[in-house]
Amino acid sequence: MKIITVIGARPQIIKAAAISRAIADKFDGKIHEIILHTGQHYDDNMSRVFFDELNVPKPALNLNVGSDAQGLQTAKMLEGIESAIQHEKPDAVLVYGDTNSTVAGGLAASKLGVPIIHIEAGMRSFNKAMPEEINRIVCDHVSTLLFCPTDSALANLNKEGFNLNSQPPYSIDNPKVYHCGDIMLDNALYFAELAEQKSTILSDLNLHENFVLATVHRQHNTDNPDRLQSIFKALLQLIEGNDRTLVLPLHPRTKSKLESALSKDLRERIEQASNFKVIPPVSYLDIIALESNADLILTDSGGVQKEAFFFKKPCVILREETEWVELVENGNAKLCGADEKLIVHATDELLNRSDFTYPPFYGDGKAAEFICSEILKHIPC
Ligand code: UD1
Ligand code: UDP
Repeated sequence: MKIITVIGARPQIIKAAAISRAIADKFDGKIHEIILHTGQHYDDNMSRVFFDELNVPKPALNLNVGSDAQGLQTAKMLEGIESAIQHEKPDAVLVYGDTNSTVAGGLAASKLGVPIIHIEAGMRSFNKAMPEEINRIVCDHVSTLLFCPTDSALANLNKEGFNLNSQPPYSIDNPKVYHCGDIMLDNALYFAELAEQKSTILSDLNLHENFVLATVHRQHNTDNPDRLQSIFKALLQLIEGNDRTLVLPLHPRTKSKLESALSKDLRERIEQASNFKVIPPVSYLDIIALESNADLILTDSGGVQKEAFFFKKPCVILREETEWVELVENGNAKLCGADEKLIVHATDELLNRSDFTYPPFYGDGKAAEFICSEILKHIPC
């Protein structure tokens, strides 16, 4: 069985670690995986660090598309992936999540009649202004094997007309929808101990206790100066005048917008606050060391919302909606958008609560193994 795995953005390189590890451990010699990196993310701390640290096989091919307008970036990927598929003739193309790299992989493979395996299928925000929502919907509807991480993802696909009881042989016209848990949980469980042993980020940043972690990168926040200003005002309010520390590993998209979006006064106050620690993006072992030791996490990231839950931390979601609805329904997370007052209020409220529960929404940490065995059963080669 030969598959091409298309990755490009930071979270996809991390997700690829789970499947590549399962292949190496349990399916060596049965699945031959060729990694194709689109080059959507390219800074060392957004790409290379994850290959090195998480033992993801080096990409056989890097399209080096870099950053561009949505359409142009996707078009460049489409061209490169199409020619890679024509050259390698894989039995299937595997894609993760909802980025432009995902949709490019899905479109290129479907037009060549190659089956698509979509991991993290069925997620919906019901907000088509997000580029990711379009990417997910398109990719799901050209896939043959769809691996859903949650109950709600399965229900979303059911509502869109997918037959949850389809029978083999599976194809683009008769797809198979699975509920298999989340490979991000596989990774969090697998790497947590290693992070504890190897990461020095807590001592490097002189963090002991009483700190919160934040990440911000969603286009809806970064590309709207009012929203970005409001989020940063709230983050500053959380630490001004007390001994709490805030750590913010800054995504390059957000970094590029800060200067123009934030008022001079706000920037100066942030720069002067020694307990407002803005740092470059960190490695996976470092972020999970931060996540598992923080008191609370504020984020607009999909992956970080779930990791907050994996590490039993409350989460303030810097969005109006989430695809991971069970986190909100179960009270582990609160949707606050970019509203300064709501963010500050929800942070206080969540920090003062201790009655959280952690049902097994995301499976048992063995999703990758299950996915590989189903690929072997149902993709003809
Ligand atoms: C992309 C995904 C988003 C995902 C995120 C993960 C799409 C539409 N969006 O968003 O779903 O949550 O990745 O992090 O696919 N940049 C750098 N160096 C890099 C990469 C990016 O400086 O290595 C800067 C560039 O200014 C670029 C901007 O970040 O224009 C945005 O990068 P891009 O990949 O287009 O989108 P993300 O916001 O990263
Ligand atoms: N992440 C990381 N370093 C950072 C910030 C995030 O390794 O500085 C990890 C995070 O733990 C999660 C993944 O990147 O596993 C999430 O990626 P991101 O927030 O960029 O995208 P999203 O999940 O929203 O698509």
